[in-house]
Amino acid sequence: MRQLTFIDRVLGQVHQALELSLQKPAHTTRENPALHLAEPMLSPHEIKHAAALMRINHAGEIAAQGLYQGQALTARLPNIRKQMEQAALEEIDHLVWCRERLEELGSHTSYLDPIWYLGAVLIGAAAGLAGDQWSLGFIAETEHQVSAHLQNHLEKLPEEDKKSERILTQMKIDEEQHAENALKAGGVNLPAPIKLMMRVASKVMVKTAYHF
Ligand SMILES: [Fe+2]
Ligand SMILES: [Fe+2]
Repeated sequence: MRQLTFIDRVLGQVHQALELSLQKPAHTTRENPALHLAEPMLSPHEIKHAAALMRINHAGEIAAQGLYQGQALTARLPNIRKQMEQAALEEIDHLVWCRERLEELGSHTSYLDPIWYLGAVLIGAAAGLAGDQWSLGFIAETEHQVSAHLQNHLEKLPEEDKKSERILTQMKIDEEQHAENALKAGGVNLPAPIKLMMRVASKVMVKTAYHF
């Protein structure tokens, strides 16, 4: 019975990977922060570059979904599982905002989104197996790295693209809050080699999603 439940959950994750990749989630908790900003005049080159950056951020949010869901699969304490599921829900806003911006820029999401999602589920599940305090520490570190990455993208965006800028700015605020929540809930500081591995893994995703 237990095993069946686990298989059900795994199949549920595969379904989720495909669904998130193929269609925009229907429900968000907050309005797109760039909704009321006018579309900027960008050159074709700037549009292509901004779209590539937003594709990376969308892929990152797909991976965030996978990480949180993977951790929810293996979290020991029910309240931690609930916290992971709640965080995943909040990240849906980011996912939708990035996707909407990509559509406005006339571009596509990463073709590898299902891979990012399922890979992240595995990593998240492994972090969850290590124990809740490690899992929370993993979230805090992920969110710190994402925040640094968003700062980098804010500097790389075309100057005129205030719409993308507004979205990334709100995301950065949220990610920093997520990191703080995870630390408050008992997350521990991860060993340096693990942090480095996480940076390398995200770099692979960033480089790949820029083009595909
Ligand atoms: Fe996010
Ligand atoms: Fe986050």
